[in-house]
Amino acid sequence: MPNHILPITPVRQSRLSNVDFDNLEFGNVFADHMFSCEYSAGRWHDARIVPYGPVSMEPGALCLHYGQTVFEGLKAFKGVDGISRVFRPDKNADRLGQSCERLCIPAIDKELFCSAIDQLIAVDEKWMPSRRGESLYIRPLIFATESNLLVKPADRYLFLIITAPVKEYFSRQGGGVSLRAEPKYTRAAMGGTGFAKTGGNYAATLRPGADSVEQGFDQTLWLDGRDHSFVEEVGQMNIFFRIRDAFVTPPLKGTILPGVTRDSVLTLLEDRGEKYEERPISMEEVIATYNKGELQEVFGAGTAAVIAPVSRIAYGDTTLTFDVEPDNLASKRLYDSIVDIQTGAVEDIHGWNRIVGASQTAGKTMTGS
Ligand code: COI
Repeated sequence: MPNHILPITPVRQSRLSNVDFDNLEFGNVFADHMFSCEYSAGRWHDARIVPYGPVSMEPGALCLHYGQTVFEGLKAFKGVDGISRVFRPDKNADRLGQSCERLCIPAIDKELFCSAIDQLIAVDEKWMPSRRGESLYIRPLIFATESNLLVKPADRYLFLIITAPVKEYFSRQGGGVSLRAEPKYTRAAMGGTGFAKTGGNYAATLRPGADSVEQGFDQTLWLDGRDHSFVEEVGQMNIFFRIRDAFVTPPLKGTILPGVTRDSVLTLLEDRGEKYEERPISMEEVIATYNKGELQEVFGAGTAAVIAPVSRIAYGDTTLTFDVEPDNLASKRLYDSIVDIQTGAVEDIHGWNRIVGASQTAGKTMTGS
């Protein structure tokens, strides 16, 4: 049983019957309930589950002015066996802790984080889609609610967890994701907030992101903040290159998000005895290996995106194209492995899944498949 038993105020009328589960998008529909917890007088309190709905804040709330906010993204899946599982919530709790620390937000107890998710999913389990590739996306967020115009850490916060039935962020029918390597703007610099999941990192990507779309690309490929020559990440996902028989991904040195899917991919590669390197990789090297025919494939890895093959990368006047159709792509194998674990189709040897919903309350094991 969860350690923190939460009071629940149920909705009067569920909105579930209005949802078109045959045409899910990403993040435009939210489940009936949300978790809510307040911070004031030096402690988190009033943890509860309430109907999803507007929150009240003064216009002076610090989050609105100076961006003191953090969030997370994780997913719950309906398994092939009917059991509901949340994928690696402990990793998201740890990362939320790192983001809070960087943004001077008081820490959240990891047990409360996981237990709140358990109980929220138990209440809204019917909102979980069951098709492969779909999930109940879980979005924890914390923001400063103290009304004050001083630039300082707030003394009041709200911690919410909302959930949304979603399909994957990038369509698997779309022929891969196209990327424009950004030559001018930067997402993050050493010593900044690049490793934290904070709204400002995403707000700063909107202008260059619009440029990418205007130029015919799906997303921006971020390069290092000093010389714009080394690859960083895509913003919505980390990036992997398969060069000859080895996988290369940029290292976690403070400017890129420590993705949970990134970590899962590296573990799966390790399990299979595949070669991989976490090391800086320049666009010059990417292009040189491409020209030699050694760059086999490129793909992104992220919670929302899962594993998304890259079809095109533009860097200045150079454009690299990749065939994302072949069945033998590593990105396809990795996608299947991850989704198979998430949905209980294969053994969860690393204990990544947390059983939630009716199966958890029926007393089945809390972790594993
Ligand atoms: C995620 O992958 O969960 C993210 O947070 C990326 C995004 C949708 C902003």
